[in-house]
Amino acid sequence: MGDVLADGRPEFQAGPRDWRMPPLWALGLSRTVSGSTAVLHDGRARNATEAILWHCGEASASREFFRRLPKPDRDALHFFLESI
Ligand code: HEM
Repeated sequence: MGDVLADGRPEFQAGPRDWRMPPLWALGLSRTVSGSTAVLHDGRARNATEAILWHCGEASASREFFRRLPKPDRDALHFFLESI
């Protein structure tokens, strides 16, 4: 996921820039279940949209695709992610 999300701590076969992509199901229930919508391994993103904008490394192309979408399409994806 690139240097911006790296924590400098390798773990078994995972390097410092490697993270497990968590399942996105139930993302929309976070606030109800934990009282927070914070995501990513250290909770730095306040919501799914911010999380996507933190994607780097192998996920850079997805971030850039998302960044270039018209706002209504970005909002629609955000709405979808909150609904699953
Ligand atoms: C449209 C495509 C994508 C969407 C909507 C998306 C969305 C998200 C969201 C919302 C999270 C935060 C989940 C959480 O912390 O509970 C996340 C995390 C993550 N995503 Fe994606 N993602 C996309 C593409 C990708 C791609 C292409 C990759 C890898 C090549 C990737 C790898 C990861 C990883 C490793 C994490 C965890 C990072 C961390 O915890 O710091 N994602 N993604």
